[in-house]
Amino acid sequence: MTSLKTKLYSAFDSLLTKLKLELFYHYSTDPNLLDEIDKLRKKQLMLLTVSEAIQLCECVARCTTIPGGMAEVGVSNGGSALLIAQRKGTNTLHLFDTFEGLPENDAYGTYFKKNQYKASMENTQQLLKKYEQIHWHVGLFPATAEGIIEKFSFVHLDVDLYASTLDALKFFYPKMAQGGIILTHDYRFSAGVRKAFMEFCADKKEAPLALATNQALIVKLS
Ligand SMILES: C[S@@+](CC[C@H](N)C(=O)[O-])C[C@H]1O[C@@H](n2cnc3c(N)ncnc32)[C@H](O)[C@@H]1O
Repeated sequence: MTSLKTKLYSAFDSLLTKLKLELFYHYSTDPNLLDEIDKLRKKQLMLLTVSEAIQLCECVARCTTIPGGMAEVGVSNGGSALLIAQRKGTNTLHLFDTFEGLPENDAYGTYFKKNQYKASMENTQQLLKKYEQIHWHVGLFPATAEGIIEKFSFVHLDVDLYASTLDALKFFYPKMAQGGIILTHDYRFSAGVRKAFMEFCADKKEAPLALATNQALIVKLS
């Protein structure tokens, strides 16, 4: 039922957002964006809705002038990574995924399950092959992040689970440049993602800003 509701919401959101954007104003900053997002969704390369994908692109664009690399944890078929890669400029982009789908976990909730979102690493790497400065970290995060010491301007988390989200916040938060953004998917849908952000941010100056989509973000203050 949840899954059907999600699919209906996603289809409706997609249609409505496209209509809204096309009828009420021209998406002048990036006129091809809607078509690009549509293509990725139709080819089932991305799970983000149209609004969520636009939000992601806005965050990336806003962070390109902040010194530091970019990262995505939770790449799967690579659609959201492609949107980041197209907009990252000369920044490095670190991409993390098991490509085996969601890892072993003791709190999947009712929706998530082991190996969900398993994807072909070869196809995903092929999709992104023309972009420079991409570093692939295949396997279970955070072990795959060992040795990375650079600062980050933008991080996209799309890992669905409490443990993966908390691990990512612990790893990236201290490495974020001032003004850098950590954007997460599934903040409203996954109790685990929300719990990880609430717990992690409890003693920080930054509070998660829940968006009208299924996303939330924090902006690193210092
Ligand atoms: C919902 S999918 C990502 C979808 C993709 N961002 C998109 O928009 O289509 C979630 C991904 O998170 C990955 N994942 C979750 N926890 C992980 C961890 N600890 N290490 C590596 N990958 C992880 C899974 O393998 C899965 O591919």
